[in-house]
Order: sequence, then C-alpha cells, then structure tokens
Amino acid sequence: MILVTGGCGYIGSHCAVELLKNNKDILIIDDLSNSDYQSIRNIKLISNKNVEFIHGDITDIDVLNDCFSQNNIESVFHFAGKKSISESYKDPLSYFSTNVKGTINLIESMQKYDVNNIIFSSSATVYGSDYPLPWKEDLILNMPHNPYAKSKLMSENILKSYLSTNQNFSIGILRYFNPIGFHSSGLLEDKVLGSSNLVPSIISYLLKNIQFLPVYGDNYDTKDGSGVRDYIHIIDLIEGHLKAYEYTKKNKGCFVWNLGSGEGFSVFEIIKKFEELLDMKFDLRVLPRREGDLAEYWADISKANRELNWYPEKDINNMVKNILAFFEIKKENN
Ligand SMILES: NC(=O)c1ccc[n+]([C@@H]2O[C@H](COP(=O)([O-])OP(=O)(O)OC[C@H]3O[C@@H](n4cnc5c(N)ncnc54)[C@H](O)[C@@H]3O)[C@@H](O)[C@H]2O)c1
Repeated sequence: MILVTGGCGYIGSHCAVELLKNNKDILIIDDLSNSDYQSIRNIKLISNKNVEFIHGDITDIDVLNDCFSQNNIESVFHFAGKKSISESYKDPLSYFSTNVKGTINLIESMQKYDVNNIIFSSSATVYGSDYPLPWKEDLILNMPHNPYAKSKLMSENILKSYLSTNQNFSIGILRYFNPIGFHSSGLLEDKVLGSSNLVPSIISYLLKNIQFLPVYGDNYDTKDGSGVRDYIHIIDLIEGHLKAYEYTKKNKGCFVWNLGSGEGFSVFEIIKKFEELLDMKFDLRVLPRREGDLAEYWADISKANRELNWYPEKDINNMVKNILAFFEIKKENN
C-alpha cells in the first residue's frame, strides 16, 4: 500500500486517481486544512475503487505512527504541505512546522516501521533567483529568500542527510514548476481558486467572481514586461511521479528531477491564448509586483527525459483548452 499525504489536495488527489488506475492500494492522510472530504468521494467516484482515509495532521507523530503500524505501507508520496509564498511571509512558523517538521516526522515514522521509499513534492522556488536559465537540478543552491521556498529546500536537505544513515532508503525529489489544469471529470478541485495566481484569477474572472483580471507587474525585464513561468499540465506532472516511483523502487539513493515543460510563457501570452479561444477581450488591471515573485524562470527537463523517459505531452494550447473545459463544468454547477 502507498501512503499519500495531502491526498485530498489539488496534486495529491490527481495522483491518488492515477495510482488507483494503476491498481495500487492507497491510504490518504490529510488534515483537510486546504481541502475537504468531498475530495475522497470524488476520488472514489472517478476511480470506482476504495480509498482508505485518515483525517489527521502530519505534525502529530503519533498519528503517523498509527498509520504505519496499522497498515502495510511500502512507499510514501508526500504532498501534505502549505504552498503560498505570500502567506509564508505572514506566518513563517506554520510553514516550517507543516513543511519541515511534518517531513521530519514522516522520516522518523518511516524509519521506525522500515519503510524505505519516498516521493517528495518540492518546488522550483528552491532555486531562488541567482542562476542562469534554464534551471538544472545540479546547481549548488543558496538558501532562497521566502519562507515557503526555505521550508522546501530544508526538507530536501533533511531527506538527503537522512540517506547517509540508511543505505536502503530511496528518495525522489520532484521540483515542480507551475502545475495547471484539471482531471477531465472536472471533479478534482484546486482550493487555490480564489487566490491571486494566474489560472485561478482567470477562472474567477470568467465566473464573474472578480471584476477585472489583475496582472502583477508589467515592468519586469522579460520579453513583454510580465512575469514568465513554466507551466506543466497536472496529468503530465502525475505521470512524472509514477515514473519517479518506479525508478526509486529499482535504484537506492536520492534523485532530484525538475518537472516542468521546459518552456517559459509570459502572463500576457497566456492571457492572449485564453482571449483567442474565447474570442473576447479581458479587462486587465496592472497592479504592483507581488513580494517574492521572480521575473522569469523555466526548467531544464533533460534529466527527467533521460532518466525517467518522461516527456510532457500537453502543450500550452492543450492546457488552456483543458482549463476552459473545467471552467465550463464549474459554470454549469454554479
Ligand atoms: N500547486 C503548486 O503550484 C505547487 C508547486 C510546487 C510545489 N507544490 C507542493 O506540492 C504539494 C501539494 O500541493 P497542492 O497544490 O496539491 O496543495 P494543496 O493545498 O491543494 O494540497 C495539500 C494538502 O495537504 C493537506 N495538508 C496541509 N497541511 C497538512 C498537515 N499538517 N497534515 C495533513 N495534511 C495537511 C491540505 O489539507 C491539502 O489537502 C505541496 O507540498 C506544495 O508545496 C505545489
């Protein structure tokens, strides 16, 4: 059985569905702080399979020990965590508690119950800002500025340090760039809808929950002044997890892979793609840059291509169409 921490969230729920599709038994632990129980119902509905669920907090080691002692767990997919850069400036301690202490607890519990395989959700934010593009996994990283990215880099380093004490351990660290898109059922949500990120903002704008579409900064040193990001479709991202899992089951050690598309698109370019497909003009407002946002970044994904035979299939047009299909489902349900 695979333990999926944070399996009710955006990425975890998509991964849970794919694991079940691949005939894996899963146990989800989630404290529902950024999700709800409907996620479990929807995972069951889509997969037509049973899902074990524990409503619990990974910062409580007793809860984790119970998970491992009462279930035959062979691997962990570790998604549970907090993910907002701006919130992490306001409440850094809760970021270190959930993201770092939660990861330490998990390793301790895995050690106690002799579970030796983990796939960890890291983030492109660990690269900070000082490196030439595209970012490669073997860069020697300085501590990034924002508390969220710090908590991810600290967790990576803790996992790597633990490896030297346990030769049986294998770790897949996945540095996500910007995951977007949804399962075709439209049933798996991203609670970040309502946040200031680009795709959630576009969906809110189309649902008329906000009056204008905010663009945070148009004076960056980029191709058109707006921020440039590397967008990766959620289903391609999850495929990367399954391949990383297979790889780390066969190879002991710590392996780091970027999961992105390898291409950068600007905020204005993405907006234009939506406008073209919808045949409408968005009402844009340029607002000041957000704290912690970088001008531009994208991934070098040649390592994941080579070692995992992982190649993202959905290009930016597919991603935008998939988001619009999700929006249509949301609109019908509204
Ligand atoms: N979505 C992104 O853009 C992105 C990018 C890079 C990295 N990540 C990382 O990927 C992981 C998953 O991200 P997501 O977008 O699915 O986030 P999400 O918030 O949708 O999912 C995280 C899940 O973890 C749960 N959780 C939070 N704290 C917990 C705790 N203490 N104990 C148990 N469960 C807890 C939440 O309730 C939620 O269901 C996170 O670790 C995040 O930092 C996400």
